This record gives sequence, structure tokens and C-alpha cells, in this order.
Amino acid sequence: MELGPRLTEGKTKIIYAHPDDPSLALMVHKDGITAGDGARRSEIPGKGVLAGRTTANVFRLLARAGLATHFIDAPEPTLTVVRRCTMLPLEVVIRRLAAGSYLRRNPDCAEGVRFEPPLVEFFLKDDAAHDPLISPVEIAARNLATAAEVEQITSTARVVFATLERAWASHGITLVDLKIEFGRLPSGELVVADVIDNDSWRIWPGGERARMLDKQVYRDATLVDEALLADVLARYELVARLTDEFASADSV
Ligand code: C5P
Repeated sequence: MELGPRLTEGKTKIIYAHPDDPSLALMVHKDGITAGDGARRSEIPGKGVLAGRTTANVFRLLARAGLATHFIDAPEPTLTVVRRCTMLPLEVVIRRLAAGSYLRRNPDCAEGVRFEPPLVEFFLKDDAAHDPLISPVEIAARNLATAAEVEQITSTARVVFATLERAWASHGITLVDLKIEFGRLPSGELVVADVIDNDSWRIWPGGERARMLDKQVYRDATLVDEALLADVLARYELVARLTDEFASADSV
């Protein structure tokens, strides 16, 4: 498919304008994988195809669940057509089990402690400040979103999480936590945007951390060599295959 002018480039994707429709944008998924604020960087040939496939499967499931998203179509394996929106500079993290940065910030909490309902946290996208935690009050004070919008984001994030948690549970896999982002359409409406792929969540088969299938394998590795990258790719392939079922009408 023909691409319009390049709008932005991230570590794992490039966003282009749509060649003829100004209300749309094109996301091209790259083979890059990074960790530690970009301190660790690798290329895994084939990862972009799997990212495009996983994100399309996830967004089709969310659309079926009645959620408003930016997703339109995935006409090629590495290409996602989306509604053009202005991204909120926020990472919205939903946690069912305590893990990762939550444990670092709450050292008295044991890994795996269950949140009921899932905990929703906000992080400001600010590389220089290492994406700090930000409160709903601060989000409103900075005019990133109104207090009512923060409430709407929180409830939507919980529905996104519940939808994916159910889908993963049907495969015997625990969704531990998930990061999503929101965009604002020209109408002002907030929609679930960006990608949701195997970089975006922790997934533990049988609830066992040691069997994790997600990007944490790459983050945790003490040595990044060909064997590690092949292992990471194999897990991403399995995850993409499992999410193929998310997109079909009767799966969840
Ligand atoms: O590191 P932390 O525990 O806060 O991560 C929570 C969830 O958000 C994890 O599933 C992680 O993969 C995801 N995440 C992400 N992008 C980031 C930070 C976290 O997708 N920049």
C-alpha cells in the first residue's frame, strides 16, 4: 500500500499519513526491540510481522467488545490502518497481579498479590524523567485530560483489561498486567490507540512467572545473543498464533 509523508518514528513503529484520507494514518511495525529506556536494543527479523498480526487481533477483539478504538484494518502483515488522533502523553497500566515497577515502588508488596478490581496507574510519557507515575489530579492540572476524562479512561482501561484477561484465560494464560494508550480524535472523543502487542503485557501460562511469553524475557536476559533472540521470536510467534483466535467471532 502506498504511504503518505512520515509523521513520527518510534522504536518499534513508524507512523505515516494516509496518501488520500487525512482522517487516517498508517502504522508500520518494525523489527526492533528495546529495553531499559533504549539502553538495550536489538533487531529480531520477523518481529514486525508478528507485532502487526497481534495488534490487529487484539483490536478486532476490542471492537467486538464494543470499545472505541483507532483501529480500522490491517491490509498487510506489518501495516495497520488507524484513525488519525492526537496521542495523550500517558501510559495507562492496568494490573491484576503485582509485578515489575509496582514492586520496585512498593517494596513491601510481594510479587503476585492480586488487585480486585485491577489497579489502574498512569505514567507521564517523558523520556528525560523516565516516565514518572502521575496522579489523576496532576493529569487534570496539566490539562492533559479533564477529571471526567480520567474517569472515563480508567473505566475503559478496566474493560480492555477484562476483555483480554478473559481471552487469555481461555488459553490457560494469566494476564498479569497491560499497558495501553489513548488518542483524541478531532471530535474530542478519546479512543484506545497505539499498539497492543506482546511488548504491552505480562502473560504467564498457568499463572507461572517462569513460563512467561512476553517481552519481559528480553528485558530480564543477562546475555543477549542469537539464541536468546531466537527464543524471544519463538515466544512472539506462539503469542501471535494464540491471538489469531481472539479475532474470530466465537472465541471469547
Ligand atoms: O514496568 P511496569 O511494571 O510498570 O510495566 C507494566 C506493564 O506495562 C508491563 O506489561 C509492561 O510490559 C508494560 N509497559 C509497556 N511499555 C512501557 C512500560 C511498561 O508496555 N514503556
